[in-house]
Amino acid sequence: MSARHEGLEGVTATTTRLSLVDGTAGRLILAGYAVEEIAPRAKFEEMAYLLWNGRLPGREEFKAFRTDLASRRRLPSTTSYLLREVAARWTPVMDALRMAVATLSLGQQAAPEEQACTLVAAFPTMVGAYWRLRNGQQPLEPREDLSHAEHCIHQIFGLEADGIRTERVRGLETYLNTVCDHGLNASTFAARVIVSTRSDLISAITGAVGALKGPLHGGAPGPALDMVFEIGAAERADEVIRAKLQRGERLMGFGHRVYRTRDPRADVLAAAAKQFYASEGDRQFYALAQQVEKAALRLLAEYKPGRRLDTNVEFYTALLLHGLDVPKELFTAIFAIGRVPGWTAHCLEQLRDGRLIRPHAEYIGPVGLPFPPL
Ligand code: COA
Repeated sequence: MSARHEGLEGVTATTTRLSLVDGTAGRLILAGYAVEEIAPRAKFEEMAYLLWNGRLPGREEFKAFRTDLASRRRLPSTTSYLLREVAARWTPVMDALRMAVATLSLGQQAAPEEQACTLVAAFPTMVGAYWRLRNGQQPLEPREDLSHAEHCIHQIFGLEADGIRTERVRGLETYLNTVCDHGLNASTFAARVIVSTRSDLISAITGAVGALKGPLHGGAPGPALDMVFEIGAAERADEVIRAKLQRGERLMGFGHRVYRTRDPRADVLAAAAKQFYASEGDRQFYALAQQVEKAALRLLAEYKPGRRLDTNVEFYTALLLHGLDVPKELFTAIFAIGRVPGWTAHCLEQLRDGRLIRPHAEYIGPVGLPFPPL
């Protein structure tokens, strides 16, 4: 009998060319590029192309790819109908997204690469349409002239293209790029398991959305934001945080299972937040969040000496997305918009190189029971 690893911790289940998560050095490499090198500079479409093709596109390839993606933004009528129905029932955003993703393959049997493009293109339309319906507004017509990040902002907030300031687009694009892939996390693994049976990408991404919506995976930025609001004023930071730590609570936005040093994504998002709040957004809130971070790090070192608990990606996600006016109910869905290229790239990699994923479970139940007739 082979060794048991609860939760598959420490098990290497496959190889990948998509991302390297080095928790000891605090390093994240995305298809060859350090996250801090590529995420603040690349277009989101370049990231998707890189993950799917293993290299960045040339100028003409980029144009053609962007046009192809933009042409796939419109939702099938059944998807739109479903979103209307579930909005009327006040379904949580991630449940609505999971149901909507599953309808994208209605009536078509596209190649895996085609499905990947459709998924990436359709996510902002689904999230934006659903959010507007939930708020009593009509979904907006998709626009092909906008970049992916611009379209995402347009679908949710309904701003005209010339009304979307470049700082907002850059802020969102840097966020989406930063979270586009992260090793064999739970939702990515779920997608790979599904597609390892030679199932389709729509099924795999439906499963990935289901995995992401769990509170242990995609749910921390909302509570991190709540903590900053709960503290409310810099002079209360020590008192509130101390009380939390004394009650044995965890501070949301700090600590990580893999990174035993500062999460490199937190640095990228911290720089993006600094740049964004320099030009717009609630600067008072930004200053407060920085004080909260300082106090939290100081008190974590005092209460958990030797643990190396540092700021993680979720703290700065909360800060940046809040600055961009994204409501906290949409944080996980925006994360999903950023992660679809990674999910689909893993699926394509699995289809190309992978084996059926079929681990073993150690049976610990009874054996040899006699069947009692009713
Ligand atoms: N606040 C306070 N204490 C924390 C902490 C936090 N955010 N994260 C870890 N600790 C403490 C643990 O309670 C434990 O203390 P103990 O040994 O006295 O019981 C110690 O630090 C070691 O933590 P450990 O259990 O090894 O961490 P983990 O690897 O199991 O957990 C997380 C990793 C991410 C789940 C954890 O850090 C956490 O809950 N963070 C807050 C939620 C969050 O931000 N999640 C998003 C992650 S990207």
